[in-house]
Amino acid sequence: KLQLSLAIIKPHTVKNPVALTYIRNVLKNKFVVIKTKRLFLDKSTAANFYIEHKDKFFFNRLVTFMSSGYIDLHVLGHKNAIHLWRKMLGPTKVYKAQFEDPYSLRGMFGLSDTRNVAHGSDSLTSAEREIKFFFPEFSFYEWHSSN
Ligand code: CMP
Repeated sequence: KLQLSLAIIKPHTVKNPVALTYIRNVLKNKFVVIKTKRLFLDKSTAANFYIEHKDKFFFNRLVTFMSSGYIDLHVLGHKNAIHLWRKMLGPTKVYKAQFEDPYSLRGMFGLSDTRNVAHGSDSLTSAEREIKFFFPEFSFYEWHSSN
């Protein structure tokens, strides 16, 4: 049974050909990439996506950054997609990624706690919400009845 997760490749990574090529290869080799699209978020869509962080000190910074350039979205399938993608990303905080998991994507390509390369869903519930948010036509019902 294939679990689903959402990967968001953040604006600074989309602009970095070395990182982007590396990540695309990793995704192709480790996951079934079910859907892909490139979007330019406006601030209100970015704020809505990150609504659970609305009271955090970094919320404005995060929303401004996420609407500063194109992002790439990938719906990933794997029997352990959520954990595997987050493991490959490494710790959210870049200093931690660089010290504790230097070959993780954030360890290698992270620039700051905001510009931390990419996003990954953190649970089944958030994966479903996030995939529906960006791919409203995607049918979980059909997916789970055929996979
Ligand atoms: P992401 O996985 O997209 O989910 C929430 C984002 O908030 C996170 O990655 C970071 O980009 C950002 N974030 C989390 N903690 C901090 C922080 N301490 N300072 C700035 N940005 C942060």
